[in-house]
Amino acid sequence: MTPAPTPNIFAPVSTPAFQIRELSFFVLGITAVIFVIVAGFAIYTLIRFGRRPANPDLEPAQVYGSKQIELAWTVVPLLIVVVLFLVTARYTWGIERRAQPPDALEITVVGNQWWWEIRYPKLGIVTANEIHVPVSDAANPAPTFITVQSVDVAHSFWVPQLAGKMDAIPNKTNRVWIEPRQVGTYVGQCAEYCGLQHAVMLLVVVVHSQDQFRAWVAAQQSPPVEQGTVTAGRELFSSLACINCHTVRGTPSNGVFGPDLTHLMSRSTLGAGAARNTPENLRAWVKDPGAFKTGALMPAMKLDDTQLDQLVAYLVTLR
Ligand code: CUA
Repeated sequence: MTPAPTPNIFAPVSTPAFQIRELSFFVLGITAVIFVIVAGFAIYTLIRFGRRPANPDLEPAQVYGSKQIELAWTVVPLLIVVVLFLVTARYTWGIERRAQPPDALEITVVGNQWWWEIRYPKLGIVTANEIHVPVSDAANPAPTFITVQSVDVAHSFWVPQLAGKMDAIPNKTNRVWIEPRQVGTYVGQCAEYCGLQHAVMLLVVVVHSQDQFRAWVAAQQSPPVEQGTVTAGRELFSSLACINCHTVRGTPSNGVFGPDLTHLMSRSTLGAGAARNTPENLRAWVKDPGAFKTGALMPAMKLDDTQLDQLVAYLVTLR
């Protein structure tokens, strides 16, 4: 059984995250020793010198400066900071200079207010808020290299069990890589304040066995399978403004401002983690996205109940 997903840096499952935990323990160790010494002195002083003097008018002995003590409390912290700096720089360097193997999986993650676009440029897949990657083992190493970008404001891509934070900055391209060792689902979220719905800009990373990952890729690459008769909903979708912002591959709908809906129902949440992706929630979302996730940039289309039913009947076929 796989453990429950947790945004915990002390439960790493991927190479850069292992190193980050090591470094965290080192820094916590040093700061713990400093804390014990400082707190120890403070408590000792309170107990030893805390008594009220017998004669309150009598001043305690005054000490004016000591070169040795001042030198000690300047040089010792300086040395500690230098050690922390050098060790951190060594870890950062080790993580960042890892070269990308030619056959590594490439993903582009694009921060949007307030959702994540996920692209697999070499595989022709575009999805949202859910990253699927293969597990990596010693026999079959399968690291994933992630390009991080933003289309609007600064966001930060962070999946604590897999890697450190990486800022998503407009007009800049950053990189991060992961190499998960354990199949499972890992949670992440935007870690840079980016506006009203910063707190609801969640993402999940699903780590598959290598066979399951190939099956996921094949499913995402295939055109959506329409089941039953949803002509009314499909026509409604292409007659409304939906197609200006959303793409459904193989249809006239090719907008890029909103999430790609080709395989909408393969995703577990709506609105980057705002709610579970069920037909009822989907209907409420289309009816009024702002009521569902205040500030969401998708407008309410003022549809009547019949139109909503038809549209949702179409959308749920996008598997
Ligand atoms: Cu995007 Cu905070």
